[in-house]
Amino acid sequence: MVQREYPFHPYPIGWYQVAYCDEVSPGQVLPLKYFGKDLVLFRDEEGAAHVLDAFCAHLGAHLGHGGKVEGKCIRCPFHAWAFDGEGNCKEVPYANKIPPKAKMNPWSVVERNNQIMVWQHPAGEPPSFELPDLEEVGDEKWSSDTRRSWKIKTRNQEMAENAVDSAHFHYVHGASNMPEATAAFDGPTMKVISGTGMETPRGGVDGQVESMSYAFGFAFIRFTGIVETLLINSVTPIDEEYVDVRFSFRVKKLHDADITKGVGAAFVAEVSRQLEEDIPIWENKQYLDSPALCDGDGPIGLFRKWSRQFYYDPDVRSNGDSKIAAA
Ligand code: FES
Ligand SMILES: [Fe+2]
Repeated sequence: MVQREYPFHPYPIGWYQVAYCDEVSPGQVLPLKYFGKDLVLFRDEEGAAHVLDAFCAHLGAHLGHGGKVEGKCIRCPFHAWAFDGEGNCKEVPYANKIPPKAKMNPWSVVERNNQIMVWQHPAGEPPSFELPDLEEVGDEKWSSDTRRSWKIKTRNQEMAENAVDSAHFHYVHGASNMPEATAAFDGPTMKVISGTGMETPRGGVDGQVESMSYAFGFAFIRFTGIVETLLINSVTPIDEEYVDVRFSFRVKKLHDADITKGVGAAFVAEVSRQLEEDIPIWENKQYLDSPALCDGDGPIGLFRKWSRQFYYDPDVRSNGDSKIAAA
């Protein structure tokens, strides 16, 4: 049993995926567990998706188990109180007055790139940045998406650090060289550009990988070269121990539909293999606040500096600052 401690909060500030848009149709209700909480996702009859804390303000029933959508509201399965997407109680069918405490905690929701994203901030502050709309999504020159998902015992920051850890691409993923990576940090975004270490049955493929992360919850990766592919990657904390990882892949269509399919399948297999090689490392490693970095490592020190903005509590985010900055 690995005992691990992290000097950072399990739920960093940012946007996190809780479902794909097409997983919840108008009138549908889904129970969720993220950020160590029970939540309910529902799509109202006008088509808007909403997320609320799950337990009814009246007597605590879980709205995700038996709750029914009616118009713009969700009606509790226990005593039929109705709440709108902002968490306000709109009706108590057997009372003359709605009690002031009848209020559910609402989450900020946006739908982009076929993802339902919620905003997480430990102090409840409103969103401080927006997510991009990716042109490939819904473009008929691109394939529809292929999805994969994993539940992994690690934290968001540990997974995100992988992008700037150039040396591991050779030693963990078998890349023939250590691809030169350049990282640019700008507000909540981190852009990493590197050559591919992609191997295919026909040999190595020359090309470029450009990954763009928005905090720790959302990233997209464009692979260019012989074929163009897009990977949208989301990582959502389930609780203090586990995260949900979702990959959705798209390929720019080639002339031949079968070849497009084959290329897509090879790409999904390769990227999934790489992720699965990382899993045993992440699940068993310890986060070191003051690591022994060498000159051949990627910009890990800069990454960690950038990471600090996603933690709210100044006491936990400033641990070991000076040493990390100097690394
Ligand atoms: S517990 Fe929800 S209406 Fe009573
Ligand atoms: Fe990796």
